[in-house]
Amino acid sequence: MYDFDTVISRRHTDSMKWDGGHNKDEDMIKMWVADMDFKVLPDITKVLHEKIEEGIYGYSMVPESYYEAVGNWMKRRHDFHVEKEWMVLTSGVVNAINLAVRAYSDIDDHIMILTPVYYPFKNAIVNNKRKAVSLSLDFKEDHYELDFDLFEKKIIEENVKMLIFCNPHNPVGKVWTKEELLKIGEICLKHHVIVVSDEIHMDFVYGERKHIPFYEADPRFKDISIVATAASKTFNLAGLQTSTIFIANKQLRELFKKEQLATGMFTPNVLGLIATMTAYEKGDNWVDEMLSYVEGNINYMESFLKKNLPEVKMIRPEGLYLVWVDFRNWHMSGKELERFMLKEAKLWLDEGYIFGEEGEGFERFNLACPRAILEKALNRITVSVSK
Ligand SMILES: Cc1ncc(COP(=O)(O)O)c(C=O)c1O
Repeated sequence: MYDFDTVISRRHTDSMKWDGGHNKDEDMIKMWVADMDFKVLPDITKVLHEKIEEGIYGYSMVPESYYEAVGNWMKRRHDFHVEKEWMVLTSGVVNAINLAVRAYSDIDDHIMILTPVYYPFKNAIVNNKRKAVSLSLDFKEDHYELDFDLFEKKIIEENVKMLIFCNPHNPVGKVWTKEELLKIGEICLKHHVIVVSDEIHMDFVYGERKHIPFYEADPRFKDISIVATAASKTFNLAGLQTSTIFIANKQLRELFKKEQLATGMFTPNVLGLIATMTAYEKGDNWVDEMLSYVEGNINYMESFLKKNLPEVKMIRPEGLYLVWVDFRNWHMSGKELERFMLKEAKLWLDEGYIFGEEGEGFERFNLACPRAILEKALNRITVSVSK
């Protein structure tokens, strides 16, 4: 049994989550950026200690065992067959998305995102001088859907070259079904749209749902897509900047590598390699326990809101440790809601509007934390709103 209940103070550790931002209020509860407040699998700490003891941290190479560990995890946990030669390591998935934008499109090309969505997608498009085409997902009371006719129409009208796709979809918690993936992929094949499928949250799926990697929906999709993964969300290793991108199509892989070469950043982080390998080799039980703990947090939040704040609607996530909550019945603007959370409830969340204009009036909560933190946060909201 691993311990997810102990509250670990992360203040004054140069943590972006706990020390970052303009507000240094020591009493503020931080439930924003996707970074867990759990200690990692003890085996990871052990192997990192052993490396530190060596006292030399020169340039490293990716060992054969890294590819095996990644491949075995994908097969074991997701029935996802990957080959060593498809794997390209990058310093994070956001890094990979930016590289893909540069590798597979030209300046001023149109790239689609399905909003609300993880905001660095749009940044990757705009910062690289491409044009973002946002298509809103349809909100159906308790879940989101894609209008496939509109999706195809917009691809044609806007001459879309690339789709940056998120599965499971951050922030709305949607796990795309095989049927949906087939429709998306079919349309993209037809119109020569490259798909960058960000599957960093793939290990977080609850209930009946199953994560289906984009490549596994239909083998033909390998020709037009890349799949971005990492152990960093699942095992809380984001600061070690190591991710594995699967690029089965040789031409797409070469273009990607060429772009990576041009950045001058292609040697892996030695600690990131070791941690990732160990996570994938030894982390099954830890992940299973962590997932059921996080699911317990989701259940707790759902029943708390039903009982104490019934007008606030939680969109029950099918995946992710992030929870998307609809506060629109409070009739506040996004900025007013933000002010309320920061000043009254002393709670730092991710504001819905940063994920796209459809997110106005929503908040994203990070539930990868000890239950005591969640309880405190929800109680603060309840007390503050009744003042
Ligand atoms: C969908 C998604 N992609 C990528 C990332 C960040 O990945 P990395 O730290 O590997 O750049 C996050 C982090 O929250 C995320 O939610």
